[in-house]
Amino acid sequence: MTYRGQHLLSVKDISLESIDELFRVAELMRPYATRQKMTRVLQGAVLGNMFFEPSTRTRVSFGSAFNLLGGEVRETTGLSNSALAKGESLYDTAQVLSGYSDVIVMRHPAAHSVSEFAEGSRVPVINGGDGPNEHPTQALLDLFTIKNELARLGQNIQQLSLTLLGDLKYGRTVHSLCHLLSLYHGLKIQLISPDALKLPTAYVDMLSNAGHQIEIGSDLEKGLSQANIIYQTRIQEERFSSEEEAARYKGYFRLNKKIYSEHCLPDAVIMHPLPRDSRNNANELDNDLNEEPGLAIFRQTDNGVLVRMALFACILGVKDQLSKYESEVNWQVGLK
Ligand code: NCD
Repeated sequence: MTYRGQHLLSVKDISLESIDELFRVAELMRPYATRQKMTRVLQGAVLGNMFFEPSTRTRVSFGSAFNLLGGEVRETTGLSNSALAKGESLYDTAQVLSGYSDVIVMRHPAAHSVSEFAEGSRVPVINGGDGPNEHPTQALLDLFTIKNELARLGQNIQQLSLTLLGDLKYGRTVHSLCHLLSLYHGLKIQLISPDALKLPTAYVDMLSNAGHQIEIGSDLEKGLSQANIIYQTRIQEERFSSEEEAARYKGYFRLNKKIYSEHCLPDAVIMHPLPRDSRNNANELDNDLNEEPGLAIFRQTDNGVLVRMALFACILGVKDQLSKYESEVNWQVGLK
Protein backbone atom coordinates (compact mmCIF):
# COMPACT_ATOMS: atom_id res chain seq x y z
CA MET A 1 0.00 0.00 0.00
CA THR A 2 1.06 3.61 -0.56
CA TYR A 3 -1.10 4.95 2.34
CA ARG A 4 -2.10 8.20 0.58
CA GLY A 5 -5.91 8.39 0.50
CA GLN A 6 -6.18 4.72 1.53
CA HIS A 7 -7.83 2.80 4.38
CA LEU A 8 -5.66 0.80 6.78
CA LEU A 9 -7.93 -2.11 7.71
CA SER A 10 -5.61 -5.08 7.87
CA VAL A 11 -1.92 -5.78 8.25
CA LYS A 12 -2.35 -8.12 5.28
CA ASP A 13 -2.36 -5.05 3.03
CA ILE A 14 1.10 -3.89 4.11
CA SER A 15 4.39 -4.74 2.37
CA LEU A 16 7.90 -4.56 3.83
CA GLU A 17 8.62 -1.58 1.61
CA SER A 18 5.63 0.38 2.91
CA ILE A 19 6.59 -0.50 6.50
CA ASP A 20 10.11 0.84 5.97
CA GLU A 21 8.70 4.06 4.52
CA LEU A 22 6.27 4.46 7.45
CA PHE A 23 9.08 3.93 9.97
CA ARG A 24 11.28 6.46 8.17
CA VAL A 25 8.49 9.03 8.52
CA ALA A 26 7.91 7.98 12.17
CA GLU A 27 11.52 8.96 12.95
CA LEU A 28 10.87 12.41 11.45
CA MET A 29 8.09 12.83 14.04
CA ARG A 30 10.37 12.53 17.06
CA PRO A 31 11.10 16.29 17.51
CA TYR A 32 7.38 17.10 17.30
CA ALA A 33 6.30 14.27 19.62
CA THR A 34 8.93 15.29 22.18
CA ARG A 35 7.95 19.00 21.87
CA GLN A 36 11.32 20.23 20.66
CA LYS A 37 9.41 21.82 17.76
CA MET A 38 5.83 21.98 16.60
CA THR A 39 4.22 21.61 13.20
CA ARG A 40 0.78 22.75 12.02
CA VAL A 41 0.82 20.70 8.84
CA LEU A 42 -2.72 19.35 9.50
CA GLN A 43 -4.24 22.67 10.61
CA GLY A 44 -7.94 22.58 9.72
CA ALA A 45 -8.11 18.79 9.36
CA VAL A 46 -10.53 16.77 11.51
CA LEU A 47 -10.02 13.26 12.90
CA GLY A 48 -13.15 11.27 13.76
CA ASN A 49 -11.97 9.06 16.64
CA MET A 50 -14.68 6.41 17.11
CA PHE A 51 -14.10 3.95 19.93
CA PHE A 52 -16.90 1.47 20.56
CA GLU A 53 -14.80 -0.78 22.83
CA PRO A 54 -12.70 0.11 25.92
CA SER A 55 -9.40 1.84 25.17
CA THR A 56 -7.00 4.24 26.83
CA ARG A 57 -3.71 4.41 24.97
CA THR A 58 -4.89 3.59 21.46
CA ARG A 59 -7.65 6.20 21.56
CA VAL A 60 -5.61 8.92 23.27
CA SER A 61 -2.45 8.31 21.24
CA PHE A 62 -4.38 8.55 17.98
CA GLY A 63 -5.92 11.80 19.23
CA SER A 64 -2.58 13.18 20.45
CA ALA A 65 -0.85 12.18 17.22
CA PHE A 66 -3.40 14.15 15.22
CA ASN A 67 -3.20 17.15 17.57
CA LEU A 68 0.60 17.10 17.40
CA LEU A 69 0.30 17.56 13.63
CA GLY A 70 -1.99 20.55 14.20
CA GLY A 71 -5.34 18.82 13.51
CA GLU A 72 -8.59 18.74 15.52
CA VAL A 73 -10.09 15.62 17.07
CA ARG A 74 -13.81 14.75 17.38
CA GLU A 75 -14.46 11.71 19.47
CA THR A 76 -17.21 9.31 20.48
CA THR A 77 -16.85 6.40 22.88
CA GLY A 78 -19.06 3.48 23.85
CA LEU A 79 -21.69 1.75 21.73
CA SER A 80 -24.48 2.77 24.10
CA ASN A 81 -23.72 6.48 23.50
CA SER A 82 -24.02 6.18 19.72
CA ALA A 83 -26.86 5.76 17.22
CA LEU A 84 -25.60 2.21 16.58
CA ALA A 85 -27.55 1.42 19.76
CA LYS A 86 -30.72 2.64 17.97
CA GLY A 87 -30.19 0.12 15.17
CA GLU A 88 -28.27 2.30 12.75
CA SER A 89 -26.10 0.28 10.34
CA LEU A 90 -22.32 0.69 10.21
CA TYR A 91 -22.75 1.80 6.60
CA ASP A 92 -25.05 4.71 7.54
CA THR A 93 -22.88 5.74 10.48
CA ALA A 94 -19.88 5.78 8.14
CA GLN A 95 -21.68 7.89 5.53
CA VAL A 96 -22.59 10.41 8.20
CA LEU A 97 -19.29 10.58 10.09
CA SER A 98 -17.19 10.74 6.95
CA GLY A 99 -19.01 13.97 6.11
CA TYR A 100 -17.61 15.43 9.34
CA SER A 101 -14.03 14.13 9.17
CA ASP A 102 -10.92 13.95 6.97
CA VAL A 103 -9.88 10.58 8.39
CA ILE A 104 -11.56 8.17 10.82
CA VAL A 105 -10.13 5.76 13.38
CA MET A 106 -12.53 3.11 14.57
CA ARG A 107 -12.51 0.40 17.22
CA HIS A 108 -15.44 -1.99 17.48
CA PRO A 109 -16.07 -5.29 19.33
CA ALA A 110 -17.09 -7.30 16.24
CA ALA A 111 -14.55 -8.92 13.91
CA HIS A 112 -14.56 -7.32 10.42
CA SER A 113 -16.86 -4.49 11.55
CA VAL A 114 -14.29 -1.82 10.67
CA SER A 115 -14.07 -3.10 7.07
CA GLU A 116 -17.88 -3.02 6.86
CA PHE A 117 -17.81 0.55 8.18
CA ALA A 118 -15.13 1.52 5.64
CA GLU A 119 -17.43 0.49 2.79
CA GLY A 120 -19.71 3.37 3.72
CA SER A 121 -16.96 5.90 4.34
CA ARG A 122 -15.97 8.70 1.99
CA VAL A 123 -12.66 9.25 3.82
CA PRO A 124 -9.81 6.89 4.84
CA VAL A 125 -10.56 4.61 7.80
CA ILE A 126 -7.93 3.16 10.15
CA ASN A 127 -8.71 -0.02 12.08
CA GLY A 128 -8.12 0.67 15.79
CA GLY A 129 -9.01 -2.96 16.68
CA ASP A 130 -11.95 -5.06 15.46
CA GLY A 131 -12.84 -7.54 18.20
CA PRO A 132 -10.58 -10.60 18.27
CA ASN A 133 -9.54 -10.08 14.66
CA GLU A 134 -6.84 -7.45 14.09
CA HIS A 135 -5.08 -4.43 15.56
CA PRO A 136 -2.86 -3.26 12.69
CA THR A 137 -1.44 -0.07 14.19
CA GLN A 138 -0.46 -1.87 17.40
CA ALA A 139 1.44 -4.42 15.29
CA LEU A 140 3.18 -1.62 13.43
CA LEU A 141 4.25 0.13 16.63
CA ASP A 142 5.31 -3.23 18.09
CA LEU A 143 7.49 -3.95 15.08
CA PHE A 144 8.89 -0.40 15.20
CA THR A 145 9.72 -0.99 18.88
CA ILE A 146 11.28 -4.40 18.22
CA LYS A 147 13.56 -2.88 15.57
CA ASN A 148 14.49 0.09 17.77
CA GLU A 149 15.15 -2.05 20.83
CA LEU A 150 17.32 -4.47 18.82
CA ALA A 151 19.23 -1.49 17.39
CA ARG A 152 19.76 -0.22 20.96
CA LEU A 153 21.37 -3.61 21.72
CA GLY A 154 23.51 -3.40 18.57
CA GLN A 155 21.42 -6.07 16.82
CA ASN A 156 19.12 -6.23 13.82
CA ILE A 157 15.79 -7.87 13.03
CA GLN A 158 17.45 -11.00 11.61
CA GLN A 159 18.85 -11.65 15.09
CA LEU A 160 15.39 -11.59 16.66
CA SER A 161 14.55 -14.38 19.06
CA LEU A 162 11.02 -13.51 20.14
CA THR A 163 8.98 -15.15 22.89
CA LEU A 164 5.26 -14.46 22.61
CA LEU A 165 3.77 -15.15 26.00
CA GLY A 166 0.24 -15.39 27.43
CA ASP A 167 -3.11 -15.43 25.68
CA LEU A 168 -2.05 -16.20 22.12
CA LYS A 169 -5.51 -17.49 21.19
CA TYR A 170 -7.52 -14.28 21.62
CA GLY A 171 -4.78 -11.63 21.60
CA ARG A 172 -5.41 -9.65 18.42
CA THR A 173 -2.14 -7.73 18.80
CA VAL A 174 -0.26 -11.03 18.58
CA HIS A 175 -2.25 -12.10 15.52
CA SER A 176 -1.50 -8.85 13.71
CA LEU A 177 2.16 -8.97 14.74
CA CYS A 178 2.44 -12.53 13.35
CA HIS A 179 1.30 -11.23 9.97
CA LEU A 180 4.02 -8.59 9.94
CA LEU A 181 6.66 -11.05 11.14
CA SER A 182 5.77 -13.40 8.30
CA LEU A 183 7.13 -10.75 5.91
CA TYR A 184 10.58 -11.73 7.23
CA HIS A 185 12.39 -15.09 7.05
CA GLY A 186 14.44 -17.23 9.40
CA LEU A 187 13.59 -15.65 12.77
CA LYS A 188 13.35 -17.56 16.06
CA ILE A 189 9.88 -17.46 17.59
CA GLN A 190 8.84 -19.17 20.81
CA LEU A 191 5.08 -19.45 21.46
CA ILE A 192 4.42 -19.92 25.17
CA SER A 193 0.84 -20.13 26.43
CA PRO A 194 -1.48 -22.27 28.54
CA ASP A 195 -2.49 -25.25 26.38
CA ALA A 196 -6.03 -23.95 25.89
CA LEU A 197 -4.79 -20.53 24.74
CA LYS A 198 -2.37 -21.60 22.03
CA LEU A 199 -1.81 -19.51 18.93
CA PRO A 200 -4.42 -20.63 16.34
CA THR A 201 -2.98 -23.08 13.79
CA ALA A 202 -3.46 -20.70 10.87
CA TYR A 203 -0.96 -18.25 12.44
CA VAL A 204 1.51 -21.01 13.34
CA ASP A 205 1.37 -22.24 9.73
CA MET A 206 1.85 -18.69 8.46
CA LEU A 207 4.98 -18.28 10.60
CA SER A 208 6.45 -21.63 9.58
CA ASN A 209 5.68 -20.98 5.91
CA ALA A 210 7.74 -17.81 6.27
CA GLY A 211 10.67 -20.05 7.25
CA HIS A 212 10.79 -19.08 10.92
CA GLN A 213 12.06 -21.50 13.53
CA ILE A 214 9.06 -22.07 15.81
CA GLU A 215 8.90 -23.62 19.27
CA ILE A 216 5.57 -24.17 20.99
CA GLY A 217 5.19 -24.86 24.70
CA SER A 218 3.73 -23.91 28.05
CA ASP A 219 6.90 -23.79 30.13
CA LEU A 220 7.59 -20.17 31.10
CA GLU A 221 11.20 -20.57 32.17
CA LYS A 222 12.21 -22.51 29.07
CA GLY A 223 10.36 -20.03 26.86
CA LEU A 224 12.18 -17.07 28.38
CA SER A 225 15.69 -18.44 28.30
CA GLN A 226 16.55 -17.83 24.63
CA ALA A 227 14.63 -14.62 23.90
CA ASN A 228 16.17 -11.23 23.21
CA ILE A 229 12.60 -9.86 23.06
CA ILE A 230 9.78 -11.08 25.30
CA TYR A 231 6.26 -9.99 24.34
CA GLN A 232 3.84 -10.61 27.21
CA THR A 233 0.05 -10.36 26.72
CA ARG A 234 -2.99 -10.03 28.95
CA ILE A 235 -5.56 -12.82 29.31
CA GLN A 236 -8.30 -11.35 27.07
CA GLU A 237 -11.07 -11.91 29.60
CA GLU A 238 -13.67 -10.07 27.50
CA ARG A 239 -13.36 -12.71 24.75
CA PHE A 240 -14.05 -15.73 27.01
CA SER A 241 -17.51 -17.27 27.34
CA SER A 242 -17.48 -16.90 31.14
CA GLU A 243 -15.57 -15.05 33.84
CA GLU A 244 -14.79 -18.37 35.54
CA GLU A 245 -13.07 -19.65 32.42
CA ALA A 246 -10.93 -16.52 32.11
CA ALA A 247 -10.08 -16.66 35.83
CA ARG A 248 -8.46 -20.07 35.31
CA TYR A 249 -5.67 -18.47 33.28
CA LYS A 250 -5.14 -15.20 35.12
CA GLY A 251 -1.79 -15.22 36.84
CA TYR A 252 -0.82 -18.37 34.90
CA PHE A 253 2.40 -16.65 33.85
CA ARG A 254 3.88 -13.99 36.11
CA LEU A 255 6.98 -12.18 35.01
CA ASN A 256 8.82 -10.47 37.87
CA LYS A 257 12.35 -9.37 38.78
CA LYS A 258 13.33 -12.74 40.25
CA ILE A 259 12.22 -14.71 37.19
CA TYR A 260 13.72 -12.09 34.88
CA SER A 261 17.13 -12.16 36.52
CA GLU A 262 17.22 -15.96 36.88
CA HIS A 263 15.83 -17.06 33.52
CA CYS A 264 16.19 -14.31 30.91
CA LEU A 265 19.20 -13.25 28.84
CA PRO A 266 21.05 -10.31 30.51
CA ASP A 267 19.68 -7.54 28.24
CA ALA A 268 16.36 -9.17 27.36
CA VAL A 269 13.72 -6.64 26.35
CA ILE A 270 10.21 -6.92 27.80
CA MET A 271 7.30 -5.64 25.74
CA HIS A 272 3.53 -5.72 26.38
CA PRO A 273 0.79 -4.03 24.32
CA LEU A 274 -0.74 -2.94 27.65
CA PRO A 275 -2.84 -2.71 29.71
CA ARG A 276 -0.98 -5.10 32.01
CA ASP A 277 -3.37 -6.69 34.47
CA SER A 278 -1.90 -5.61 37.81
CA ARG A 279 -4.69 -7.01 40.00
CA ASN A 280 -3.49 -9.49 42.61
CA ASN A 281 -5.07 -12.50 40.90
CA ALA A 282 -3.20 -11.74 37.67
CA ASN A 283 -0.15 -9.50 38.16
CA GLU A 284 1.28 -10.72 34.88
CA LEU A 285 4.11 -8.16 34.71
CA ASP A 286 5.21 -7.14 38.19
CA ASN A 287 5.87 -3.54 39.23
CA ASP A 288 9.23 -4.65 40.62
CA LEU A 289 10.44 -4.63 36.98
CA ASN A 290 9.61 -0.93 36.55
CA GLU A 291 13.20 0.28 36.91
CA GLU A 292 14.65 -2.53 34.77
CA PRO A 293 16.35 -1.01 31.66
CA GLY A 294 15.02 -3.91 29.57
CA LEU A 295 11.41 -3.01 30.36
CA ALA A 296 10.37 -1.32 27.10
CA ILE A 297 6.61 -1.00 27.72
CA PHE A 298 6.60 2.79 28.03
CA ARG A 299 9.06 3.28 25.17
CA GLN A 300 6.56 1.15 23.25
CA THR A 301 3.62 3.45 24.12
CA ASP A 302 5.70 6.53 23.21
CA ASN A 303 6.52 4.88 19.89
CA GLY A 304 2.78 4.52 19.29
CA VAL A 305 2.50 8.29 18.91
CA LEU A 306 5.35 8.41 16.36
CA VAL A 307 3.91 5.61 14.26
CA ARG A 308 0.37 7.03 14.36
CA MET A 309 1.61 10.52 13.45
CA ALA A 310 3.48 8.97 10.52
CA LEU A 311 0.37 7.11 9.42
CA PHE A 312 -1.75 10.28 9.40
CA ALA A 313 0.96 12.20 7.53
CA CYS A 314 1.23 9.44 4.91
CA ILE A 315 -2.54 8.90 4.50
CA LEU A 316 -3.25 12.63 4.25
CA GLY A 317 -0.28 13.23 1.94
CA VAL A 318 1.69 15.72 4.05
CA LYS A 319 4.78 13.69 5.01
CA ASP A 320 7.07 15.95 2.94
CA GLN A 321 5.69 19.21 4.33
CA LEU A 322 6.26 18.83 8.06
CA SER A 323 9.06 21.38 8.35
CA LYS A 324 7.28 23.93 6.12
CA TYR A 325 4.66 24.40 8.88
CA GLU A 326 7.13 24.27 11.75
CA SER A 327 7.46 26.70 14.68
CA GLU A 328 9.05 26.99 18.12
CA VAL A 329 7.45 25.52 21.25
CA ASN A 330 6.86 28.40 23.68
CA TRP A 331 5.86 26.59 26.86
CA GLN A 332 7.80 24.78 29.58
CA VAL A 333 8.13 21.16 28.44
CA GLY A 334 8.01 18.48 31.15
CA LEU A 335 8.94 18.70 34.83
CA LYS A 336 11.55 21.15 36.02
C1 NCD B 1 -4.57 -4.29 23.32
C2 NCD B 1 -5.90 -4.46 22.60
O1 NCD B 1 -6.82 -3.64 22.79
O2 NCD B 1 -5.99 -5.41 21.84
N1 NCD B 1 -4.44 -3.05 23.91
C3 NCD B 1 -3.99 -2.01 23.14
O3 NCD B 1 -4.62 -1.60 22.19
N2 NCD B 1 -2.79 -1.50 23.44
C4 NCD B 1 -4.22 -5.42 24.20
C5 NCD B 1 -5.13 -5.77 25.35
O4 NCD B 1 -6.20 -5.18 25.53
O5 NCD B 1 -4.76 -6.68 26.10
